[in-house]
Amino acid sequence: MAHINSNYLNIKESYLFSEVAKRTAKFKESHPDADIIRLGIGDVTRPLAPTVIEALHSGVDDMAKAESFKGYGPEQGYDFIKNSLKEYYAEKGVELDKDEIFISDGAKSDLGNILDIFSKDNVVLVPDPVYPVYVDTNTMDGREIVYLKADESNSFLPLPDKSIKADLIYICSPNNPTGACYNREQLTKWVNYANENNSVILFDAAYECFVSDDSLPRSIYEIEGAKTCAIEFCSFSKTAGFTGTRCGYTVVPFALERDGYKLNKFWLRRQTTKFNGVCYIVQKGAASVFTDEGKKQIRENINYYKENAKIITDTLDRLGIWYCGGKHSPYIWFRCPGNMGSWEFFDALLEKANVVGTPGEGFGENGKGYFRLTSFSTKENTTEAMRRFEKAFGNND
Ligand code: MLT
Repeated sequence: MAHINSNYLNIKESYLFSEVAKRTAKFKESHPDADIIRLGIGDVTRPLAPTVIEALHSGVDDMAKAESFKGYGPEQGYDFIKNSLKEYYAEKGVELDKDEIFISDGAKSDLGNILDIFSKDNVVLVPDPVYPVYVDTNTMDGREIVYLKADESNSFLPLPDKSIKADLIYICSPNNPTGACYNREQLTKWVNYANENNSVILFDAAYECFVSDDSLPRSIYEIEGAKTCAIEFCSFSKTAGFTGTRCGYTVVPFALERDGYKLNKFWLRRQTTKFNGVCYIVQKGAASVFTDEGKKQIRENINYYKENAKIITDTLDRLGIWYCGGKHSPYIWFRCPGNMGSWEFFDALLEKANVVGTPGEGFGENGKGYFRLTSFSTKENTTEAMRRFEKAFGNND
């Protein structure tokens, strides 16, 4: 008889964003005329940059000719995109070997898949609130999870607690869901802690492109000592609008060893066995992001989302609502007006303003009473959503 992985019984029945979608669909059923604006899941709305579209077309043309046709590609990605990424990192002052970079179909998949190379006995440290993927994927494997409190008192940027011994540490900066961003000094504390404890930091850099202050780190490898203790995950989703196109990358430095083995070799072995690489056409599109024109065009899209973030934070400022994020991040994390609970505010916002957001509680205990909005919608919808927000909650807080 086949047995199930009973760890699945320990995770919530549905993934946070599926739950939000389910509740929204139910509301729409009973209010068919409601003009719903979605500022919930962080999904982009700007079309792909013209340079990317051109590169995708040229990838399709390559597949149409025998001399440039591609079958199976290297599981870890084509050299042309790995070399572009190597240069991109060099611009941040980080020297990488191209074979320390692995191309994937997105950060979420790799953040889950990386666990294949770690023992199930490892103790995992996650901040709370946290991107649910870190918790769910470890729960599926049956790992012990320890939570580190992130709240207003530490500006939602918890620092290492030397009394806690953890083997795997998740850090996302700029953070999802809070939008808070670690500075160099704070990240250095994490790197030192990980090196002292032989832990490994799983650093989620998916929102690095939103950092607008040069003094803030955009890669953990900008911190001395990080190559011996950190794996970095990044994605073209939020940077270049690839949420539907799917492309990301993971950096596993050669210097990172545990139990006397190079984790780079383990990850390569895992990927060559369980993954057949990202579609050639998509890799061509993603590589074009690093051309001068590509960089300029994606910057325009990022600035567009940053202006939306400002529309949201200006409204919260006017209403005197506490928030963080929005400056170096597409996410704005705020205290629910009128001391409402997160799901209570979710319903109230949907009911009174027909706007969908994400309840902070869905990201963990410390998210209770908080709420997340994203700036990835269109300018028109963001403006209209915040007009309705102000009208509905203007006098309550
Ligand atoms: C989010 O809304 O938190 C993100 O879109 C989720 C993701 O990137 O998977």
